[in-house]
Amino acid sequence: FERGLLTGRRVLITAGPTREAIDPVRYVSNHSSGKMGFALAEAAAEAGAAVTLVSGPVHLPTPQRVARIDVVSARDMLAACEGAMPCDILIAAAAVADYRPEAVASQKMKKDPGSDDGLTLRLVRNPDILATLAARADRPFSVGFAAETEHLLDYAARKLKSKNLDLIVANDVANPQIGFNSEDNAVSVIDRALQATRFEQASKGQIARQLIAFIAARYH
Ligand code: C5P
Repeated sequence: FERGLLTGRRVLITAGPTREAIDPVRYVSNHSSGKMGFALAEAAAEAGAAVTLVSGPVHLPTPQRVARIDVVSARDMLAACEGAMPCDILIAAAAVADYRPEAVASQKMKKDPGSDDGLTLRLVRNPDILATLAARADRPFSVGFAAETEHLLDYAARKLKSKNLDLIVANDVANPQIGFNSEDNAVSVIDRALQATRFEQASKGQIARQLIAFIAARYH
């Protein structure tokens, strides 16, 4: 792993889940731990980049020499990323909630003691942070993640095209040894020519260093 690989480059990384409020005490979210994004931020900083890490709510320490911006919702995350532009390389490792409650109740919602009826929550689409930044005139070299439970490479390749990415990192979250919340990962990186490069199971720190070296080589 070469230390000066990304010297002078600005790298923007998103990490963690987003949290979408239902009322002042409840939210919709997912199981992302943020570990992969934080490991990538650490590796990019080791490679000499000026790293901005925009993170949803996680329980992780900030890597050394990384500028961290904490956010809660997908809309907050988009605003923070837009504020951190321009950058040379964007790596979107966050597990952004695809939907949010249409309206946030201003007070804690109370259940009706006189009824056993369920509750219907109306959800609306969140903005796609990665696709939004990859569509800008000052678009960075854009790297996405595809966490899938089936048809991994096929869905990842489709995402690469639809979001206009340079690279997409595919990981199989159906495998309990890797992916969400685990210490290890194993991924395939797909490029615009639909060539896949496999990175075998290793700690998220090791995978992150290999990914940063690969991304830097493709960027240059
Ligand atoms: O479409 P899907 O959520 O599977 O795409 C995953 C990729 O897109 C990840 O890189 C993720 O960080 C990014 N993404 C995003 N904003 C969204 C949804 C996904 O940046 N609203």
